[in-house]
Amino acid sequence: MTALPSVLQAPADAPHVLARCRELVRPALVEAVGRMHPWMGEMAGYSFGWCEVGGAPAVASGGKGVRQALAVLGAEAAGAPGRAGVPAAVAVELVHTFSLLHDDIMDGDPARRRRPTVWKAYGTGPAVLAGDALFALAVETLAATTAGPQAVRVLSVALGDLVRGQADDLLFASRPWTGPQRVRPDEYRAMAEHKTGALLGCAAALGALLGGAEPPVVTALDRAGRHLGVAFQVVDDVLGIWGDPEVTGKPVHGDLRERKKTFPVLAALGSEAPGAQRLAALLEAGGEPEEAAALIDELGGRSAAVAEARSHVAAVEKALADVALDGRAADELRSLLGFLVQRDL
Ligand code: IPE
Ligand code: MG
Ligand code: MG
Repeated sequence: MTALPSVLQAPADAPHVLARCRELVRPALVEAVGRMHPWMGEMAGYSFGWCEVGGAPAVASGGKGVRQALAVLGAEAAGAPGRAGVPAAVAVELVHTFSLLHDDIMDGDPARRRRPTVWKAYGTGPAVLAGDALFALAVETLAATTAGPQAVRVLSVALGDLVRGQADDLLFASRPWTGPQRVRPDEYRAMAEHKTGALLGCAAALGALLGGAEPPVVTALDRAGRHLGVAFQVVDDVLGIWGDPEVTGKPVHGDLRERKKTFPVLAALGSEAPGAQRLAALLEAGGEPEEAAALIDELGGRSAAVAEARSHVAAVEKALADVALDGRAADELRSLLGFLVQRDL
């Protein structure tokens, strides 16, 4: 990978934390997916990396399971056993998968995790329906818990925000690079918090809620997850321009070719230097992105993005430090934070 300035050292045990949480959650997730219509269940299993198209056992592996881990750790942070957070973990994984199925259709993306996306493999109609089925199952899962109505309310708020973030992300695509209609960094921040942070915050908050946490703890974990989402998204943007395609699995300068309104670009365009106008012209012309990438770096877009990610990491740390949490769970939450913003995937 091209040298990405270190935001945080990734603690070595984050993969173990993720694996432990996945193991704890998996039986309940398998059981929930098993209650779906078999066709919908197969698409869900394919998305989770459990099976191939047609249902044969998977060759590929699934996602890291960040959201389910946050839910388990949220319960543990509240002093409860991790299993108390399992229904929250199941619900947020289902909702996350639902959002990816629909997102890949909206973005027209043919591949995810090096495999065809669900809409490519099964068709758009079936992929929309599988997303709907996953959403319904998530609500059902939470409604069956002791914190039912409150838990469903927390999830609904996060989903409303996620839709808001996705809507802004779609609208950003047709906004100009310069002038009064340009996308400003604070609009980007709100979009990223909504699109990515809301569900991460919801995962930790729901885990804590089911673990019997007091309201300030639930709120602090939600805030931590939201900042984590922005940090994650900004790091993603840096990797999307300067990351090694061998490592990211995405084409080099892919985000520039797709003319995405990413944080480094928006920060560079906000520079007073004359290069900013040259950058806007380059982006407008949609030519080869090498020069644009160099110019963004020169205009400080890359360092501004790293500073932005750092400030959200600090906000996560503060949110976690502001309330009394179980020490071990808090450490594991911090290790996940380091892992996610330092990731090279
Ligand atoms: C996906 O956003 C976020 C949600 C599904 C809510 P993006 O479109 O930016 O992310 P990828 O690159 O498809 O994962
Ligand atoms: Mg997408
Ligand atoms: Mg998208």
